[in-house]
Amino acid sequence: MRRLGINVDHVATLRQARGGHEPDPIAAAVLVELGGADGLVVHLREDRRHIQDRDLTLLKEIVQTKLNLEMAAEEKMAKIALKVKPDLVTLVPERRQELTTEGGLAVAQQRERIKAMIRVLHDGHIPVSVFLDPDSAQIKAAHKVGADAIELHTGRYANAKHSDAEQVEFEALVQGAQLAHKLGLEVNAGHGLHYHNVKRLTQISEIVEFNIGHSIIARAVLVGLERAVQEMKALIV
Ligand code: PXP
Repeated sequence: MRRLGINVDHVATLRQARGGHEPDPIAAAVLVELGGADGLVVHLREDRRHIQDRDLTLLKEIVQTKLNLEMAAEEKMAKIALKVKPDLVTLVPERRQELTTEGGLAVAQQRERIKAMIRVLHDGHIPVSVFLDPDSAQIKAAHKVGADAIELHTGRYANAKHSDAEQVEFEALVQGAQLAHKLGLEVNAGHGLHYHNVKRLTQISEIVEFNIGHSIIARAVLVGLERAVQEMKALIV
């Protein structure tokens, strides 16, 4: 069965909006696992805009499924990963000004650097995935530098404005998934997936895991709101 990894970054975004303790992504992680998630995903960003170092340490202790740490291919981040030992590291590109990860990692343009990073993580017994656009040169490069898995960037598919564009992006994902699978890489996929666009991607049998964050956290806020209001009303009668 296909796995669902849930990214809880935006639980932390909400917490950071007030700089306090709530909502705690650790509590969210427990509920997410109770709900049947197959893994937790967090992106520890250089600017620490949502997930904090403390979150990562606690998640490593409490997550019972799989902890997937998304991080930039930087030495400082590698040190943290080697200390925390997540079950998987996903290397992503990172720019300070971006709202969210905007594209796949350019592995073909920095083979030696990524290869060295993967080697360091492998020496610490941490498997490595790389977040890639569905581009054959990047997928082949990821294989060459020793990645164990790739995560196909589904953002262009998710953001396609009309059905022709969506078709083009869908086909690119099919080709990318088939190539990666043929090379022996595990194929994950994510970014921008929601309740209306994910179903079509289940046709791609090579994809064994979807990593989804924003749409699930956004929906949780709405489906939980009625109860939250009722509980407050009960307190003030
Ligand atoms: N996968 C990767 C590599 C990401 O960077 C992100 C966003 O942090 C996700 C999956 C989840 O994307 P979304 O929040 O749009 O579902």
